[in-house]
Amino acid sequence: MTNHDKIIEESIGELRKKLNGLTLSELKISDYNKRYLQEYIANYDFLMYQYSQLLAKVIKSLSKPVEESVFIDYGGGCGILSYLAKAIGFKKVIYNDIYELSVNDSKLIAQQLSITIDNFIFGDVDQLILFLEKQDIKPDMICSLNVLEHIYDVKGWFNSIIKIQNSFSLLFMTSANSKNPFIAKRLMKLHKKVEFEGVQRKEGWKEIDLSSSFLEERKKIITAKSGALKPDEIKHLAHRTRGLRKNDILKLVDEYTKGKEIKYKINHPTNTCDPYTGNWAEHLIDLNQLKSYLEGLKLKVTFTNSYYGYSKNKFLNAPKFILNIFMKIFGKHNLVFSPTYTLEAKKVV
Ligand SMILES: C[S@@+](CC[C@H](N)C(=O)[O-])C[C@H]1O[C@@H](n2cnc3c(N)ncnc32)[C@H](O)[C@@H]1O
Repeated sequence: MTNHDKIIEESIGELRKKLNGLTLSELKISDYNKRYLQEYIANYDFLMYQYSQLLAKVIKSLSKPVEESVFIDYGGGCGILSYLAKAIGFKKVIYNDIYELSVNDSKLIAQQLSITIDNFIFGDVDQLILFLEKQDIKPDMICSLNVLEHIYDVKGWFNSIIKIQNSFSLLFMTSANSKNPFIAKRLMKLHKKVEFEGVQRKEGWKEIDLSSSFLEERKKIITAKSGALKPDEIKHLAHRTRGLRKNDILKLVDEYTKGKEIKYKINHPTNTCDPYTGNWAEHLIDLNQLKSYLEGLKLKVTFTNSYYGYSKNKFLNAPKFILNIFMKIFGKHNLVFSPTYTLEAKKVV
């Protein structure tokens, strides 16, 4: 075990104690984040295995010591990655999320855990960059877990982040691994469900998430925009606008009304997003295409895999053991067997 592994393990142990000390029923946070925290507490060792692998990559790719580095937890949710980054000893930890409720909840959770997160930023990448510029903060590490697959305009997001003037590393780990055929199959089934049927709201539902069919909601948006369209045209436009958010759907309807032509085409058979928020339902991103795009932005890019963590389910642990061996054999860039991929990018100035 390296010294870094030991620090990560200790930080995870420290956070466990703090989380176990929380009385969730008394916390004045949303049911949505209570559900998240509950899941973390109930499956702590299993879930922390992913965090420990991500944090090991983080420390490895830093060009300065941890205690001199600024860490950004992008799309932090209920803040677990931020709390761990703080425990590991980063000089500054900045939490960000596009969902205001989660930002407010995380402030409260951090307080209850007696963890000082340096800044909480509400908003998308442009609000984050504005904040960094105003405060003259130079981030060393921009990190996220399970966020990349929800960002509406991935290319636009990177166009913004590279405006940061200093050198930095970016590590985005996600379980929406499009290179793993089992994961891709499972997520494509999910895409079809949210697109055509919708899902049942359950306890701890994220209030801004849509539960009705995305396709039906796009039909409503299109119908409300242009009363002059025939039912067939509305149906056609609703299908052709899969993967677009309301503002872009309306632009496309305008274009169509003027020229009866649709230029936009989604290149994936099932990927789909919430037409109001643009939040993708587990976006299966074409990683080869993304890599060449990011290299065009002068970023150094690689994708790396991670190992499966074992759970109490012995039936599942056996195939996981075998897949972990395959990954050792095929090396860290092989994503086919992996439960996640990590986009590792570096801007060097
Ligand atoms: C699946 S949750 C993961 C939360 C957290 N990283 C974790 O692992 O527990 C995805 C998070 O990304 C946030 N998010 C999605 N798109 C975002 C964007 N464009 N900018 C910032 N946050 C975003 C969501 O609000 C949500 O909190």
